[in-house]
Amino acid sequence: MLNIDFTGRRALVAGVADDGGFGFAIAKSLAEAGASVCVATWPPALNIFNNLLERGKMDESRKMPDGSLLTFEKIYPLDAAFDTLADVPEDLKESKRYKGLGDFSIDGLVQRLTADFGSPSLDIVIHSLANGPEVKKPLMETSRAGYLAALSVSSYSLVSMVHRLAPLMRPKGSFLSLSYMAGERVVPGYGGGMSSAKAALESDTRTLAYEAGRRHGLRVNTISAGPYASRAASAIGIINAMVEYCATNSPLPEPLTAAEVGTAAAFLSSSLASGITGTTIYVDKGYHIMGMAVDREAPGTL
Ligand SMILES: NC(=O)c1ccc[n+]([C@@H]2O[C@H](COP(=O)([O-])OP(=O)(O)OC[C@H]3O[C@@H](n4cnc5c(N)ncnc54)[C@H](O)[C@@H]3O)[C@@H](O)[C@H]2O)c1
Repeated sequence: MLNIDFTGRRALVAGVADDGGFGFAIAKSLAEAGASVCVATWPPALNIFNNLLERGKMDESRKMPDGSLLTFEKIYPLDAAFDTLADVPEDLKESKRYKGLGDFSIDGLVQRLTADFGSPSLDIVIHSLANGPEVKKPLMETSRAGYLAALSVSSYSLVSMVHRLAPLMRPKGSFLSLSYMAGERVVPGYGGGMSSAKAALESDTRTLAYEAGRRHGLRVNTISAGPYASRAASAIGIINAMVEYCATNSPLPEPLTAAEVGTAAAFLSSSLASGITGTTIYVDKGYHIMGMAVDREAPGTL
């Protein structure tokens, strides 16, 4: 029988700070298939995340099919805007939410993983993070700093993570990120250079797949997910309208769930997908194939 068995495998999910986003759902799916899961959390959200966990506020969503609670092997601080601690401005290092965390750069994450588990010790890396400080601004009005910040955190961080984490990966390991259709088509309201960041992420997925495949035998894919009202997506300001529009106009006319992204991610991270790399896989209820809205009178509407 075909099944996904991650027993003895270790996953790192970067971009989990609550139970309301894709990262959490993916972590849960990977754990359900038997993986040990470490997460990496943005320092400004780390205290809140730890508090939610400790106070049992996420116990309902942590419940696994066998009745146990999803646990994380480690929770690491990570600010994916920085490759090394030397890149971090002094005032940020000394600020309230970063002080005392040690090395929260991508390099620091590599060092902590190596110290905790040795090398190689990883099989699956999920990049489920993004940030565009000017996401509410149309691209035309986006500042250079805002545009570059969106690209730095949301796209370059994947390049840096593949480069720095590849040596820690065991044979046949897999990298997976999360993209959005606004990287290929115009989605008014998804501004601040975030559409550019997703275009870069998808292009880099192809190039990184080639390079990481040839050098390390690793796979790199991205899931282009439909809209979902996570914490990050709520910052866009129009997420509920986006969810409703897609649900109404998709071949499968219902809202996408995070669990559906979680199970697709588990498949792509597994040996069942050993022939898939460099690809953007749509998990969007089929919305991307549509060329005409159907939530109004139109010829040919089913
Ligand atoms: N929600 C959607 O509609 C949607 C659709 C398609 C793709 N995506 C993508 O899915 C991924 C996960 O987002 P989500 O919507 O599940 O929301 P989310 O809020 O669960 O995840 C985003 C995470 O990024 C983290 N983050 C922000 N800046 C960071 C930094 N500098 N360093 C490290 N972490 C940082 C946040 O703390 C948060 O945990 C993102 O890449 C997002 O663009 C989301």
